[in-house]
Amino acid sequence: MSRERIISGEIISPEEESFILSLRPKLLNEYIGQKGLKEKLRVSIAAAKMRKEACEHILFYGPPGLGKTTLAHVIANEMSSRLVATSGPSLSRTGDLMGILTNLGEGDILFIDEIHRLSPAIEEFIYPAMEDFKVDFVVDKGAFAKVINIPLKRFTLIGATTRAGLLSPPLRDRFGLYYHIDFYPPEELREIISRSAQLLNVKISPEAAEEISRRARGTPRVANRLLRRVRDFASVKGNGDVDIAMAQKALEAEGIDSIGLDGLDRKFLKVIIDYYKGGPVGIEALGATLNEEIDTLVDVVEPFLLKIGFLQRTKRGRMVSNDACKHLGINLNLEDQPSLFEE
Ligand code: ADE
Repeated sequence: MSRERIISGEIISPEEESFILSLRPKLLNEYIGQKGLKEKLRVSIAAAKMRKEACEHILFYGPPGLGKTTLAHVIANEMSSRLVATSGPSLSRTGDLMGILTNLGEGDILFIDEIHRLSPAIEEFIYPAMEDFKVDFVVDKGAFAKVINIPLKRFTLIGATTRAGLLSPPLRDRFGLYYHIDFYPPEELREIISRSAQLLNVKISPEAAEEISRRARGTPRVANRLLRRVRDFASVKGNGDVDIAMAQKALEAEGIDSIGLDGLDRKFLKVIIDYYKGGPVGIEALGATLNEEIDTLVDVVEPFLLKIGFLQRTKRGRMVSNDACKHLGINLNLEDQPSLFEE
């Protein structure tokens, strides 16, 4: 991320990480929302426990901040297993992964965040580990090269990715369970905010919780972050209690509008409208015009705009919708634009 952004689904600082950790549900029945997913996980966990086996390998995919890491911890707690966490970009050498894998105990969980960013060499290395619980380690070079076969304990790999499309098909196929985590509806976010407020000893009115939930762009991490900003605002400007007026003022001060869009979202949409007549425009051109990393735009900005129908992704590029123009108070005749469906 090029700068701090309160409604980004991504974690901003170590300090925030500990704040998030303190609010993280530990067990499935504390976890709010994702009902269908929870049911499937309950069955898999119960079956694995009954057979006294490790759970199947699980892949979670979806935008940042929706609970992929939290769910990995919840599964570990439910299975009474140890969880070892790492991430795709930090696993650069097979030796590092080898160390992690050979130290895993029976039933342990290896969580790999951003698994789409594993290098091809590491991916190759991980296939036999996932499939046959062994690793092939090559020692020496040339004529003296030997493959040593090292058996592993039966572990569960939980992978998380924001973009399942970037995962190589052989890796994707090695996951027994494959779950998409979707944005949360405001009712569920309201519940999450009320639960967090209780844990933080913050008095919040139901209307204020609802207001925050409407502006949290479907993302629990954003909801908790906004709650924290609103709480701070209420402590400084009032007696610490959060009512609707306090919530609204705090969120306005943060530049978050009535439906949860922030400055970067609005700038993103406005660039498409002002510079590219509403689109279609390629993501590279948008990245260059906005001076933002393409990954940030694709992983963090676009998913929610797509979800609420403000943006459309076509073969020829991104286009804004009439609803987006209306929300921004811009009059743009999109009827003149090429049809989205002609290709
Ligand atoms: N905190 C973050 N996500 C949550 C969830 N889904 N349920 C409860 N608390 C949460």
